[in-house]
Amino acid sequence: MQDNNNTIAGWVLFAGIVALGGTLVAGSYFAAERPEKMGYPIEGVVEEGAGGAEAEQPIEFYLASADVAKGAEVFKKCQACHTVDQGGANGLGPNLWATYGKPHGHVAGFAYSDALKGVPGNWDWKGMSDWLANPKAYAPGTKMTFAGLSNPVDRANVMAFLNSKSDAPLPLPAAPVASTPGAAEDKAASEADDAGGQKAENEPVLTEQEALKGGTANIRGEGAPKVTAPGTTAAPAPKQ
Ligand code: HEC
Repeated sequence: MQDNNNTIAGWVLFAGIVALGGTLVAGSYFAAERPEKMGYPIEGVVEEGAGGAEAEQPIEFYLASADVAKGAEVFKKCQACHTVDQGGANGLGPNLWATYGKPHGHVAGFAYSDALKGVPGNWDWKGMSDWLANPKAYAPGTKMTFAGLSNPVDRANVMAFLNSKSDAPLPLPAAPVASTPGAAEDKAASEADDAGGQKAENEPVLTEQEALKGGTANIRGEGAPKVTAPGTTAAPAPKQ
């Protein structure tokens, strides 16, 4: 008996040592690296910043729901250099009354940079958006020392506000259909509805679930697999 107890104690001690050793070895193999970013990413949540910028829509998308009053707020950032009312004085920057549709550098007598005057074409939605997002990229060498409005919503709002400061404001562009994910399909679906959608609604439709429930009984034709579940016969399904 005495001997037996010692043997048992020995094995328990041995097992403990093995377990401890295992933990140490495993620990060094599976050393947990501290993740760069703590927390779990949540699928489908767009982060602001680098990722969000990629997902930016064309400016027409934001213009479609632009808010002139909010644009007036944004324009406070421009007021240090610009007036916008008709006949307003030029400051560091030119008066901005009725700019759309005019050539770059539209105020006669203002000393524009060659950089801006040299940009071909007239001010349109796309051009104004690119300009306000990053003036230096739009007209390298411009005198407008303004960093730019990176937020497309701010840009659209201030663009709508500028547009309102004119004898003949342009209609705001409609949201481009193709750029809104899902909109194209929605449109196709609604067109399909118009063309006989009513009829299709009343016809029986076999959903995937129903097809699965029915098993192979619903699969007909030459290509249908001749599968019989174990324990059932190949007899035709009973009539209802
Ligand atoms: C630090 C002063 C400054 C600020 C702030 C500023 N601008 Fe300008 N802006 C200028 C100057 C200077 C020019 C002329 C640029 C050139 O000739 O290269 C200009 C030109 C423009 C033009 C071109 C006008 C034309 O006749 O072609 C537009 C449009 C414009 N600014 C809009 C804005 C808007 C909108 C804001 C605010 C979001 C803004 N600017 C902020 C100084 C400024």
